[in-house]
Amino acid sequence: MRRILLSMLLMLLVVSCSYADVIELPPPNKTGGMPLYEAETLRHSTREFADVEITSQDLSDLLYVTAGVNRDSGLRVYPVARGVHDISVYVFDKNGVYKFDALKHSLELITGGDYRQATSKPAYAGKAAITFVYVQDLKKWEGEGAPEDRIEKWGFAHTGAMLQNAYLFAASKGWNAVVRGTFEEARIRRILKLNRKQNITLVHSIGPRP
Ligand SMILES: Cc1cc2nc3c(=O)[nH]c(=O)nc-3n(C[C@H](O)[C@H](O)[C@H](O)COP(=O)(O)O)c2cc1C
Repeated sequence: MRRILLSMLLMLLVVSCSYADVIELPPPNKTGGMPLYEAETLRHSTREFADVEITSQDLSDLLYVTAGVNRDSGLRVYPVARGVHDISVYVFDKNGVYKFDALKHSLELITGGDYRQATSKPAYAGKAAITFVYVQDLKKWEGEGAPEDRIEKWGFAHTGAMLQNAYLFAASKGWNAVVRGTFEEARIRRILKLNRKQNITLVHSIGPRP
């Protein structure tokens, strides 16, 4: 009897832990916003950020516009080579680090705590409300028969399409944004617990201006 009770308790623990690790996002807005031409005209990089949090609705909308699913087929707002979605968006905010699940439109908690500064050397973007770290997963290409010498380039092309989406969202909200190709790779890899098949492409800070 004791053993049954113990295993039931263990099962309960496992279930509640796995629920706690997934953060549901509100459904994203798919209409409205600033007209595209105006957002294009306002898009630019700026390196000053207010140390404020954004709402979960704004985060949901930002993630949808950057990397969301826009068709029943599971395809996204950005184009990909051979239908392979090899880039994951990791989200750093004041409260933790998360991985965006585009299909479920939710966040998986990687670790709690404020690690934004770790993505920011020099320190200018460490206060940004949100920093995205784009990570290419080479495992996604296994069995696809893609030419070896193209895979990394395609990953950067996918990242470029996504980050432009995020820049346009920032412009439309009157926020600042800056993408970075120079960052402390080893440090970020440790925080994200990346394996040898996962490589960081770019880092992107986005958020309200001071
Ligand atoms: C691939 C790439 C890497 C970049 N790396 C950095 C960087 O490490 N640090 C930085 O401050 N800006 C970086 N930028 C932002 C550029 O400096 C910026 O886009 C450029 O000055 C043009 O300004 P604009 O974005 O306002 O048009 C990078 C941009 C790209 C596309």
